Amino acid sequence: MAKVTELGYVGITVSDGDAWRKFASEVVGLEVLDEGEGDRFYLRMDYWHHRFIVHVGDGDDLAYLGWRVADATALEEISDRLDAIGVKYRVGTAEEAAERRVLGLLKLEDPGGNPTEIFYGPLIDAHMPLHPGRRMHGRFLTGSEGLGHVLVHADDPAASHRFYTQLGLEGSIQYHLKTPNGLIQPTFMHCNDRQHSIAFGVNGDKRLNHLMLEYAELNDLGKAHDIVRSKGIDVALQLGKHANDEALTFYFATPSGWLLELGWGAAKAFKQQQYHLNDVFGHGIEVSGMHDVEL
Ligand SMILES: [Fe+2]
Repeated sequence: MAKVTELGYVGITVSDGDAWRKFASEVVGLEVLDEGEGDRFYLRMDYWHHRFIVHVGDGDDLAYLGWRVADATALEEISDRLDAIGVKYRVGTAEEAAERRVLGLLKLEDPGGNPTEIFYGPLIDAHMPLHPGRRMHGRFLTGSEGLGHVLVHADDPAASHRFYTQLGLEGSIQYHLKTPNGLIQPTFMHCNDRQHSIAFGVNGDKRLNHLMLEYAELNDLGKAHDIVRSKGIDVALQLGKHANDEALTFYFATPSGWLLELGWGAAKAFKQQQYHLNDVFGHGIEVSGMHDVEL
């Protein structure tokens, strides 16, 4: 059965392109790539042409998620499965594939209304090793684990779980969290060794609650933390360690209002599911009101 293999790229809309260029490079260490298109620029994490397409204009939210499959045959299998379960999609044109620097893609929406692309054949710029936007000890953890993870909007978590299962992801509810607003039971799903590539079950006013990127070196997480503190950026959740992915992370505001979670040391995906009531330690709420719960 054909499956998606990684969260390969993410598109975002931003209202302040200049703020994002500075934030992505100076705080996170991402490489900004501008190809003179005017309405967009790219952010690099590794040898891929890009991992993020930043569309400058109206709005500050997720534009689309790009899920990779192995090849054209796998993409055809996935489209057959979508036909069988009655999910509408559109085959991207050659121009649309070229726009994303991939060989082929489908465009659709997940049940939560998140624009979704399934693609194969990304452009890998093997001659262009990452030039980080600021000093780094090591690199971002990508490779077979994709770019990171996202927590996105889902009106009906069970429907979203069914949808992503059809794409080949696995996972389940991994937390029962008591909050002032009642019990929250977020779902986490994986498609490779990364503990989760997508999560849902916590809704806010945006499609995107947060995006998580992982450093291969602890010192790079520490450096990011120093920079966030020195710039006085709002920290939503202080340093702490999740019980499910065991990553040491903290959450802070992006120029778009949604949160960036930076981390290090995540465990690999569960072979068998389990759930938790609490994190291991930390993640104290510092600036509240951005989101009630971030995982
Ligand atoms: Fe997270």
